[in-house]
Amino acid sequence: MASSRSAWIGGNWKMHGSLADNAALLAALREGLSDAAESEVVLFVPFPYLDQVSRLLAGTALALGAQDVSAKAKGAYTGEVAATMLADFGCRYALVGHSERRQLHGETDEQVAEKFGAALAAGIRPVLCLGETLAEREAGKTEEVVIRQLEAVLNLHGAAAFQDAVLAYEPVWAIGTGRVAAPDEAEAVHRLLRERMAKADASVATALRIVYGGSVKADNAPLLFAKPNIDGGLIGGASLEAKDFLAICRAANF
Ligand code: PGA
Repeated sequence: MASSRSAWIGGNWKMHGSLADNAALLAALREGLSDAAESEVVLFVPFPYLDQVSRLLAGTALALGAQDVSAKAKGAYTGEVAATMLADFGCRYALVGHSERRQLHGETDEQVAEKFGAALAAGIRPVLCLGETLAEREAGKTEEVVIRQLEAVLNLHGAAAFQDAVLAYEPVWAIGTGRVAAPDEAEAVHRLLRERMAKADASVATALRIVYGGSVKADNAPLLFAKPNIDGGLIGGASLEAKDFLAICRAANF
């Protein structure tokens, strides 16, 4: 990662956890990261646990995040959670457009762009997830897909909206598969995304954290994070084990 940007690590718990498991995991993380005053480590926890985790994170350097957010402010949207509700629980970040939302729940680029705006409107920093499927990669469409996903948000909200955002490049074929992108392969996409942002606003592009996600583990993290345009990671499976997650955080120089 470039020295001008501070590293960012997200732990995406997905649909895992229980009151007891969360308490144990957080106790271990608090201990392991206690001397990391400048770290930006964010935990994306299931909605029902926001209250528990926000209490357990109080006074630590760890921040709280949500895995999704409604595009709507309020109303008859059964099952949805508004950005203002997330803000009530101290969420600083929200994932938008995670591939599991796009694939399993049919979220479109346009809906993801609306969610991005809804988060910002409530003072929550959106983490825009994007990435190509295996079929798209094999068809040589990686660049086209990630640029399309980025532009859906950029065209609606403008470059200034990315001042408070994080981009997460997560190739779908690497998520939960144990098949990590090669560092050079990931770096090429990160550079492409930063160059596209720079066309819209050079200073926003320079400051923007672009993190990699998809089977990041303690052993592959150092080489990924050494790349100039990879500013950290969004970690799924390995964020559920304190030892693994702490090792990944250390690889990002916390
Ligand atoms: P993974 O998930 O680390 O388990 O591959 C990453 C993600 O989906 O954010």
